[in-house]
Amino acid sequence: MTRQRILDFGCGTGWVLAKASRHRDDVLVGIDYSLADLGEGSRRFPHLSFVRGNGMALPFAAASFDEVIGHVSLPYMNTSHALREVHRVLAPGGSFFLTVHCMEYVRQRLSNGVGKGRWKDGLFMLYAIANGFLNHCGFSQVSWFGGKFETIHTAGGIARTARRAGFSGVHVERRPGLIFFGVSGFKPDPEHPKASRDASWSLNHLLTAKG
Ligand SMILES: C[S@@+](CC[C@H](N)C(=O)[O-])C[C@H]1O[C@@H](n2cnc3c(N)ncnc32)[C@H](O)[C@@H]1O
Repeated sequence: MTRQRILDFGCGTGWVLAKASRHRDDVLVGIDYSLADLGEGSRRFPHLSFVRGNGMALPFAAASFDEVIGHVSLPYMNTSHALREVHRVLAPGGSFFLTVHCMEYVRQRLSNGVGKGRWKDGLFMLYAIANGFLNHCGFSQVSWFGGKFETIHTAGGIARTARRAGFSGVHVERRPGLIFFGVSGFKPDPEHPKASRDASWSLNHLLTAKG
């Protein structure tokens, strides 16, 4: 196993990244725009590097990483902008594994909701589903009032967006009962155009990391 440069995209406190290392010399970087999460992450996981930034305009040079992972951060970004950035920062042959919310998330969120705010959240979830429909049909998503942004993705929509961003071997992984599903793929290497590779991460890795 060789040293890998791994980026956790929308890392929050970085708990997924903390489980991602397989080699002691791996370079582990988390990016998020929440200062509070980054602060907590730096205290909990001092061996990780945390960077504050926007997932849709990553502050890294092209081809800086071998793997990009990210757990339910893509739902809060414009899908095609974000995936194009993930593609840019991956080295040729590099792979990604990202999770996004599915309809089970909406079902659980609404059934757990209580009180007066419930209809507002229902409306917001309708907006997030409509954003998934826009993405499914190849259109750009729209922001909610005040700049809030969320999407409930479809498997077809996210797979097509990943292919349009330049990825090959795009694969969607679903598991009954989960509120998210995974999408993975790799950036083709022009020097080895026929090469194909599996993403190093999958739902199994994520669920094991969750414990
Ligand atoms: C549901 S949390 C998931 C956090 C973490 N991946 C985890 O599993 O605990 C979504 C994260 O995405 C981050 N996020 C949302 N939009 C972002 C953006 N445009 N750029 C960077 N981070 C973003 C949020 O700050 C938040 O930490």
